[in-house]
Amino acid sequence: MFSRRTRILTGIKPSGMPHLGNYAGAIRPALASAQAADAENFYFLADLHSLINTHDSARVHRSTLEIAATWLACGLDVEKNWFYRQSDIPEITELTWLLTCMAGKGQLNRAHAYKAAVDKNRAEGEDDDAGVNAGLYMYPVLMAADILIFAADKVPVGRDQIQHIEMARDFGQRFNHVYGDDYFVLPEAVIDENVATLPGLDGRKMSKSYDNTIPLFCRPAELEKRIMSIVTDSRAPGEPKDTEGSALFQLYQAFATADETAAMRVAFAEGIGWGEAKRRLYQRMEAEIAPLRERYDALIARPDEIEAILQDNAHRLRERYAKPLLVKLRDAVGLRNLNAVPRPATEKTREKTNAAPTFKQYREQDGKFYFKLILGDILLLQSRGFDSPKEAGQCVAALKAGNTQGLGQDFMLADEQGHEALAGVLAHFSEDK
Ligand code: TRP
Repeated sequence: MFSRRTRILTGIKPSGMPHLGNYAGAIRPALASAQAADAENFYFLADLHSLINTHDSARVHRSTLEIAATWLACGLDVEKNWFYRQSDIPEITELTWLLTCMAGKGQLNRAHAYKAAVDKNRAEGEDDDAGVNAGLYMYPVLMAADILIFAADKVPVGRDQIQHIEMARDFGQRFNHVYGDDYFVLPEAVIDENVATLPGLDGRKMSKSYDNTIPLFCRPAELEKRIMSIVTDSRAPGEPKDTEGSALFQLYQAFATADETAAMRVAFAEGIGWGEAKRRLYQRMEAEIAPLRERYDALIARPDEIEAILQDNAHRLRERYAKPLLVKLRDAVGLRNLNAVPRPATEKTREKTNAAPTFKQYREQDGKFYFKLILGDILLLQSRGFDSPKEAGQCVAALKAGNTQGLGQDFMLADEQGHEALAGVLAHFSEDK
């Protein structure tokens, strides 16, 4: 076995100008951890994903440029990291189809983004699927292809994305299982617990949907104006102020060193005036952002340079990873040259595809009734002992119906591998109904 560096993959959806919350919560930590780790880092612009949300072509175009310039300006080192645009790698869309045919439709019904759209429709008395494009529905599959195509080991994401990483593992695992080889590396989600969510101008989480943001690269005058509009309490200069729950203080902390933060804490206790505190915050932020803004402006003025970087990366990634993988995958699924000698499915494949997951019920020497779920020779799940065969049978029936709720006490997942396969297996039962 040759060793390879851990691969860390970060997807960036272009959707309008990033704000300081995106910067402090996502961009800055992603670039810092890339520098720290001895890893092969993949950063890409998920432009195909943005078509799910907007059909405004000028906006897609503009956002892609802005977000590319933003990451470069913030320090993404293209000598050491991959930086590419999803739509430049057609193998990703091809892989999406292969994975689509591995994905349980029932599984996609349960994806959060789609479910949220359905819930909203229901709340408004609309048809479940009103206004939902199938791109939103298929989004987890495209995302799985993004990840699996480069055999990413780790995917840093926010909590809302964990389910998608699990789906990527699941589709990859199923493919490996069905076609009988380790075609895909199964990725892991990485959640950074310490990443701050910045408060916005009104004290709620900084978010476009609250209209309380500070755009990352707004002009200094605009930055100052927004900072001055941060909501504070009515305490006068000279009165001690609380750092606890103060948006101003939290924003300062996100840009200051530990020493500077400690000094600001003292200033709060000593009754610094809000105007003065805001002035210090502005100075601190501007000191960090000014050089980035300057680089950003220079980059935006030279889109040809960004384009050249993206194309060069896509070209090398395709040759090195994407094309060879697709050659293997096409062969695996049977998309082969008709001249090729017909080949029966390999022993391994035949064995595995023929094995349907089955429940086995049995009685142990302790007199209790048990069941287990097996797939070929893999033990997926092992039940506890039940007092009667009927109880065991009811638990099996619930599992077959895809209903695992409340059954947590009734069985144990055999192992990591069993856990992987279980979601797929249960989806299999619910499709067969
Ligand atoms: N879905 C992610 C988001 O909305 C963006 C994304 C697309 C992504 N493909 C990815 C993230 C692959 C990680 C890996 O933020």
